[in-house]
Amino acid sequence: MSNDRKNILSGMRPTGRLHLGHYVGAIKNWVELQETYNSYFMVADWHALMSEYENPSNIKLNSIEIAKDWIACGIDPAKSVIFVQSMVPEHLELNMVFSMITPLGWLERCTTYKEQLREITGRMLATYGFLGYPVLQAADIALYNAHVVPVGVDQLPHLELTREIIRRFHSLYNKTIFNEPEPLLTQVPKLVGLDNRKMSKSYGNFIALSDDANVVKKKVRSMYTDPNRVSSDVPGNVEGNPVFMYHDIFNPDKNEVADLKERYKAGKVGDVEVKDKLQAAINVFLEPIRSKRNTLTDDYIMNILQEGAKAARYQAGKVMSKVKKCLHQL
Ligand code: TRP
Repeated sequence: MSNDRKNILSGMRPTGRLHLGHYVGAIKNWVELQETYNSYFMVADWHALMSEYENPSNIKLNSIEIAKDWIACGIDPAKSVIFVQSMVPEHLELNMVFSMITPLGWLERCTTYKEQLREITGRMLATYGFLGYPVLQAADIALYNAHVVPVGVDQLPHLELTREIIRRFHSLYNKTIFNEPEPLLTQVPKLVGLDNRKMSKSYGNFIALSDDANVVKKKVRSMYTDPNRVSSDVPGNVEGNPVFMYHDIFNPDKNEVADLKERYKAGKVGDVEVKDKLQAAINVFLEPIRSKRNTLTDDYIMNILQEGAKAARYQAGKVMSKVKKCLHQL
């Protein structure tokens, strides 16, 4: 990895298949960033365990599938380090050290923690590990000396905690060894779900990057549109209509989109035509991803992840040595 480039680290939890929302909100950005940064992209399987510990059987499979999706979308293992958190034991070492110096109050006050405890029902999340979720995330970031962490707004409280933990480490041991990482926010509005609710695994209201053409067709047909438009001659609303939001993002033919919007507002086009053009556009977009994905075998992916873990451990080991020196362990 080059010394005159800044480092980025980002990660995703392997809790299910990746979908268009992940692409627009993160992966697209990562593909661009890997050209100018030393890039580390991490499958956060320990973080997944914190919410999935009662049923961990899918985490490993999902980890491989996520890496496949990333590479199919253009994350290039020759340019970026792609790795799985649990294959780099230094994450747990630094997590332990950080957990010693993080005041409980910081974690208890963390808005994401309080929110998730409230919102996620049916699973017992009041655990020690779940409270410490952001401490492990701080360790992830600090181990690669990340200058920049590309994330969505929902992760900002964790970034702020990371900066606080790093500052506390520096002041306790009177030595500056980490960068204070800056968030890099993705500038796009969140892609809504097919049913106009928040896109979520538990609602099943998304198009997966690995969905085949027919599934995409079916899902687009079932999309929520303007509910007041009972027939195609009724003028409809384009604003706040997920079908047009998706057209704006995935249909490169801007004239076609403008024409559909005009006719929709005038009550001169049926939903079937609007949706059919949308599924066609999404399928054109997904086709190269799908076919690249089909060439990636599990063996190939495992190999990439092993190489990635090696490269990640090299970097993480250097940082861990500095940490241990500060703690008089070396
Ligand atoms: N908490 C992040 C999420 O749920 C995933 C994650 C784990 C992460 N470690 C990270 C993101 C480090 C950025 C940096 O999306």
